[in-house]
Amino acid sequence: MFKNLREFINRLEREGELIRIKESLSPILELTEVIDRVSKMKDGGKALLFEKVEGYEIPVVANLYGSKRRMSLALGYENPEEIGWKLYRILRPEIPQTFLDKLKRLPELKKLGDAIPKIVKKGEVQEVVLRDPDLYSLPIPKCWPEDGGRYITFGQTITKDPESGIRNVGLYRLQVLGKDRLAVHWQIHKDGSHHFWKAKTLGKKLEVAVAIGGEPVLPYVASAPLPPEVDEYLFAGIIMEKPVELVKGITVDIEYPANAEIVIEGYVDPEEPLVDEGPFGDHTGYYTPIRKYPQMHVTAIVMKRNPIYLHTIVGIPPQEDKYLGWATERIFLPLIKFNLPEVVDYHLPAEGCFHNFCFVSIKKRYPGHAFKVAHALLGLGLMSLEKIVVVFDEWINVQDIGEVLWAWGNNVDPLRDVVITKGPIDVLDHATDEVGFGGKMIIDATTKWKEEGYRRQWPRLIEMDPQVKKKIDSLWDKLGL
Ligand SMILES: Cc1cc2nc3c(=O)[nH]c(=O)nc-3n(C[C@H](O)[C@H](O)[C@H](O)COP(=O)(O)O)c2cc1C
Repeated sequence: MFKNLREFINRLEREGELIRIKESLSPILELTEVIDRVSKMKDGGKALLFEKVEGYEIPVVANLYGSKRRMSLALGYENPEEIGWKLYRILRPEIPQTFLDKLKRLPELKKLGDAIPKIVKKGEVQEVVLRDPDLYSLPIPKCWPEDGGRYITFGQTITKDPESGIRNVGLYRLQVLGKDRLAVHWQIHKDGSHHFWKAKTLGKKLEVAVAIGGEPVLPYVASAPLPPEVDEYLFAGIIMEKPVELVKGITVDIEYPANAEIVIEGYVDPEEPLVDEGPFGDHTGYYTPIRKYPQMHVTAIVMKRNPIYLHTIVGIPPQEDKYLGWATERIFLPLIKFNLPEVVDYHLPAEGCFHNFCFVSIKKRYPGHAFKVAHALLGLGLMSLEKIVVVFDEWINVQDIGEVLWAWGNNVDPLRDVVITKGPIDVLDHATDEVGFGGKMIIDATTKWKEEGYRRQWPRLIEMDPQVKKKIDSLWDKLGL
């Protein structure tokens, strides 16, 4: 496990997974052009360390998580799905039958205790404290030509629930409005926004800290769709099997990662009018127009003596977020199975911007089963923002778009198998008439049963005679194919 970004970067460099860019490049659009080309290379391209960003001493690292290999390395698991199974075991512990069984569970429970974030007195992130903060002293890029300005794109936005004090960490973009002001783009369905509206009801200011870097797991957990009551830094501790070290803020009553590169401290005052945020070249591949969001007043910036600025871009897919989304998909599969054991696999393709398509395969047991699963998914956390859910039989590999189209096309009669419904929609969706609310489609692409109104004989799938297969297997090497 890596303590901070620098350790991770060093490891990637040793493995030939990172390229240093020595050419001087402007943070205004030029970094994007390089990152965009590289992240569209086969398997996500390499991580990029821009050593000379025009006008700045601080280097910028990008595409750090932009491949399955690097994403898995950052998390510390060969396959991120293992993390989900670990959570599954915590949620659904087998009841120990004997004293020995109880003893066997002790290390697992201890590990959970060890995952609780630890508050330390000193953190390297506070080596430099700037009480007269100037956001323009950081190499914050402007990504796309029509963006409303410079944007922090990989900040962990930390707030506390104004009632319960439970921490939330969300990955929300922040637009630089001035030397000490940021627009905070937490969308209405997200936990940060919920804290803001609670603070408004209670007539309180909401303190905010935005952390850049830390243990490489941390930028990822900020993007993970955890339930509101689950602290993302506890989740990070479970992944790392050691606690995240946190240090108390200088001007805010918020603890943030002690090993971060940079932290921006401040507050949002819900009494203030909302401000214009955007436009922003978004992960849909389109510009999101200007909308109203709260502004954060920056009270201090703290950083390491030699920090590295972590950056990502979004745009026409695929981009680095493909791999963050992939990790989420894999980690959350066991948790979906916890709620819906009939689910075999699911896939939220990056080309569908994660919220447009959900392909799910199930072990179908009764008539209408596909609709039961689709409705349940549409009620499950941020899965509720999915627009089109297509349900397949268990033998369809939903990771393979070719197979998905084959089964979808063959098995669906649109008159019978499609349900149009409505509900909350991702606020980035531009197709709906209203922002954040619109239509959804459930498609049952499973084999149809008599009880579901199918009056013909469902055809048999073509399969080779097993004896012939066996014979050809034994001859295969001789055939020179
Ligand atoms: C690169 C990237 C940028 C993101 N930007 C935003 C954003 O600006 N606003 C937002 O609400 N969600 C954004 N998200 C999605 C959230 O990070 C994600 O929904 C997360 O679960 C939110 O945390 P929360 O559930 O604690 O609110 C982004 C995700 C990624 C990977």
